[in-house]
Amino acid sequence: MSVPRYPMQPYPTSWYRVADSADVVPGAVKGVHYFGRDLVVFRDERGAPVVADAHCPHLGANLAVGGRIEDGALVCPFHSWRYDGTGRCVGIPYTDRIPQQARLRTYPACEVNGVVAVFYDELGRDPGWTVPQIPDYDSTEHWTGHITKTWKIRTHLQEIFDNAADAAHQQTLHAATEILSYDAEPDGVYFRGQFTGTYDAGEGLPEQQAWSRNAYLHAGLGFSQIDSKLDYNGLVIDRQIHSCFTPVDEEHIDFVMYQRTRRLDDDDLTELIHQMTAQHTWRSIEEDIPIWENKVFRPLPSRAAFAGGALPAHLCDKEGDIAKTRAWARQFYTDAACGV
Ligand code: FES
Ligand SMILES: [Fe+2]
Repeated sequence: MSVPRYPMQPYPTSWYRVADSADVVPGAVKGVHYFGRDLVVFRDERGAPVVADAHCPHLGANLAVGGRIEDGALVCPFHSWRYDGTGRCVGIPYTDRIPQQARLRTYPACEVNGVVAVFYDELGRDPGWTVPQIPDYDSTEHWTGHITKTWKIRTHLQEIFDNAADAAHQQTLHAATEILSYDAEPDGVYFRGQFTGTYDAGEGLPEQQAWSRNAYLHAGLGFSQIDSKLDYNGLVIDRQIHSCFTPVDEEHIDFVMYQRTRRLDDDDLTELIHQMTAQHTWRSIEEDIPIWENKVFRPLPSRAAFAGGALPAHLCDKEGDIAKTRAWARQFYTDAACGV
């Protein structure tokens, strides 16, 4: 029997991206695999996204494989039972008697910042909070369009949040020229912070060093937004980066990043900078991936033992906000002794 790689739940309570909005086409059924289960994503008769278990409550057919949408209802390919957007069975072609068990499990779903999101909670609770909408998300008047990159990574969500708060690795992995300054505060299910510092900008950029200030907002463990300001010796570039992290199964997550750049006066320069800085962002993630895929997770003492003030034994000062981020993240785990 193999030993689980992490001491904590693989699927903490949060909103998570399950698809890009543009990929959930009215009248079509999209199959996805997250939280170790097969799911379907479709739009109801009003166009609102629905996320449901993929397997039909009748005899178990996968509704994403040959299922179809008729008048906003999802129709099973096996015996044509029909389900509405709440998961209720609303029709069986060969009888009027609908069994009580004929109910498809649906999950709270919404659409925000260009993605369809689902609220996953092992206890089946309602969310009570939302992912903040990014202003003018779809407008290209002042911003370029978004450029996107997806990675499937053998890691746990919590590692991403540790990493975002980890000041010391910015020098060793990401070409920071000094220990960055970090400053963050939890705010309920949100966590706001910023980190500031200077990076070696690498070859091909106008100056060798870039000053950068990054204000970030985590919304639960599934979404994170960064407003990033870069200064290449007077050329100031504003970027918005938003990231979605979704557990695929107990060992893997999908990490999807979207980046846009505030338009400069010159369109060609805007496009050049947009592409170049996006590649730089992708590279910084790919510098972390081999660490994430091969490391183990060092738990902190239990919630009761760790009051949140003192540093745990294996952390030292100038390491940023790792302990603070973990203390914030605990609210998303239903297991009190999980070690986060
Ligand atoms: S398995 Fe879906 S209707 Fe029979
Ligand atoms: Fe990193």
